[in-house]
This record gives sequence, C-alpha cells and structure tokens, in this order.
Amino acid sequence: MTKAKFITFEGADGTGKSTQINLLGKYLESKGIQFVITREPGGTEIGEIIRNWVLYGEHDQLKPQTETLMMMAARAFHVENLIRPALDENIWVIADRYTDATTVYQGYAKGMSIETIHLLNTIATEDLEPDMTFLLDASSKLGKGRIGSRQLDYFEKQSDSFYDQIRRGYVEVASNSPERIKLIKADQSIEAVFAEISSHLSPWV
Ligand code: TYD
Repeated sequence: MTKAKFITFEGADGTGKSTQINLLGKYLESKGIQFVITREPGGTEIGEIIRNWVLYGEHDQLKPQTETLMMMAARAFHVENLIRPALDENIWVIADRYTDATTVYQGYAKGMSIETIHLLNTIATEDLEPDMTFLLDASSKLGKGRIGSRQLDYFEKQSDSFYDQIRRGYVEVASNSPERIKLIKADQSIEAVFAEISSHLSPWV
C-alpha cells in the first residue's frame, strides 16, 4: 500500500479550492483510501480560535508580525496534533492552505521578509513539507466574482491590487518549487481542473 500523502491546496480567494478538495475526498473514498480534510488557519480547537480572531476580529490591531506569528502558532499546533498523527497512522491529509499561504499573504503581500517566514515555517512544521501542492490560479475578476456576497473575511475584503499581489506571489512561489507545486488554471470547468489534479496523483492511488 502507498504511504499516506500530505496534499495541500493553495490559491487566492475564490479560486475553487473547497470544490476541488471535496472532489478529491470523493475520489479517495472511491479508491478505499483513508483521509482527513483540514484547513489553515484552523484544523484544531486552538487553530479555529486563531482563525476566527484573525479573519473576523479587530484586524486593525494586528501588525503583520503578529498576524504571521498567529498563523505560525496555529500551524505548529495543527502539525503536532492533527497532521503528523494522521500521517503516522497512514491516513492521507488534505489541507486547505499551509506554509505557502504565509509566504504569499504575510510575505509578498504584507511585506514580511520571505526568509523570516521560511525560518518560522521550518520551526512550526518541524520540516514537514507537503508531498504535493495544487495551486489554483485565476484572475481577480474570476476569483472575486466567485467569492460573491457570502460573509467576507478580512482578506476577502481587500482590493483588486491586493488580490493581484497574492496571485503573483503564488506564481513565484510555484516557480521556485516546480516539483512540489502544480499550478492549475482555475478558469477551466470544475471537471477539467479535477482531471488535472487526479492525473498528478495517479501514481499514488
Ligand atoms: P480561506 O482558506 O480562503 O477559507 P475560506 O475559503 O473558508 O474563506 O481563508 C483563509 C484566509 O486566511 C485566506 O484569505 C488567506 C489567509 N491566510 C493567511 O493570510 N496566511 C496564512 O498563513 C494562511 C494559512 C491563511
């Protein structure tokens, strides 16, 4: 049996991560593979408290440094209490965002040093890297249109130029790790996007 894999999904808001994660869950289920779906910030009780605070709290009180450290605290707890234990039990882990999100949102967009973020990510994860990351890439027009009028969190309320910074940051991060990060055009049909995802995973399932 293939060793359980750790798969992450990244992308600007509204690129369809949740839809693809649900499809991946159904696909793994159909293959009889055990998995858990989780998210960042979040995934644990403490992580969800941090998530609520950062995304829906008094955000003006948060400097980028504080924002970064809160993401990292949630991540360290998540890796220790959910991600590693699942992988140790040979359960696949599918995460909606992980380390690359901090590099892009707090680094490229909020100006924190990328090197500092890498160091903090290494500490928070104790070097646990995903086996594969899917980056869903779409224009701000498509992404922001898809976000629509649901209750917006702090990051979703930002301008088009913030969205474009996020998009460019992710493309750069992907170009630095082409083996791990698969960039997928999210302006295709849901089925076409998932066909690309499943073809990348086929050697493992
Ligand atoms: P998101 O994953 O888009 O969830 P939903 O689809 O339910 O809205 O929301 C998480 C937000 O948190 C997203 O806008 C990106 C942001 N974020 C960071 O800024 N840094 C991080 O390290 C992580 C994990 C997320």
